[in-house]
Amino acid sequence: MHNNSHTEIAGVQLNSYVFNAAGARDVTYEELTAIGKSESSAITMKSCTIEPRKGNEEPRYKDIPYGSINSMGLPNLGYKEYIKISLCREDYITMLRAFQVSEVDLIEVNLSCPNLKGKPQVAYDFEQCEEIIGEISDIGKKPIGVKLPPYYDFVHHQMMSEIIRKYRIKFVTLINSIGNALFIDAEQEAPVIKPREGFGGLGGHYIKPVALANVRKFYKLLPENVSIVGCGGIYTGKDAFEFLLAGTSAVQLGTIFMQEGINCFGRIDMELRQIMERKGYTSIADVRGKLKSL
Ligand code: DHB
Repeated sequence: MHNNSHTEIAGVQLNSYVFNAAGARDVTYEELTAIGKSESSAITMKSCTIEPRKGNEEPRYKDIPYGSINSMGLPNLGYKEYIKISLCREDYITMLRAFQVSEVDLIEVNLSCPNLKGKPQVAYDFEQCEEIIGEISDIGKKPIGVKLPPYYDFVHHQMMSEIIRKYRIKFVTLINSIGNALFIDAEQEAPVIKPREGFGGLGGHYIKPVALANVRKFYKLLPENVSIVGCGGIYTGKDAFEFLLAGTSAVQLGTIFMQEGINCFGRIDMELRQIMERKGYTSIADVRGKLKSL
């Protein structure tokens, strides 16, 4: 193949279009190192908190017929461990200040965790969201992006894109899991995960059309210099190609990474490049956003 899937997000060059999503398999040093050794073109770390957290009770992640459901409850090592991993030596006040002076290239701020007891998803409260984005957007020079939940109303896409423009957010990751889904095991007459009475974030095949819709809508609403990272139901190169048509500069893998492990990155990148070759495209930029109308 003579093509490649080189791309960039907010000016940061990536060797391929495919990398991992923040999720259930990017918490520990070992897990992050394994991603680093794989063909994933970046290493996304799971959301962290000031203090280490064990997260919710088990079972808290389950594969289900067309995807996955989880309520992990933010298990993580505490931000200082991740700062160490990214080789920073200085002392920090807040996580964002800390990551701004670390070795990370991009900071993906998660505004869409659906699994915290008693805490609404920030990104569904536009006022609170604007406050938070306003506070974090001018700390340091590293590109900041936001990871958003799905929106289902064009008025909400419009409102969020105005906030993103106003504070010069450099990339958006679309979408987080669909929050508060419930999967029931009829034989057991029970949910399949334990926390929060079985309600959890839905990922995988179920959510691809919702993810594509959010990518396409934000692609139309945001200026060209805001990169879009796709996430939600990508299992194959064909899925990745659909996200590319809708307007993403790269895609992240969550559920398939849980199921297949690190091989998924190279496989999906190769499948994507085969599709591009068959169609005569030589670069990501040839295809990005070029969805045709009927
Ligand atoms: C968790 C789940 C999410 O979808 C997210 O965005 C952040 C955290 C969790 O349960 O750990």
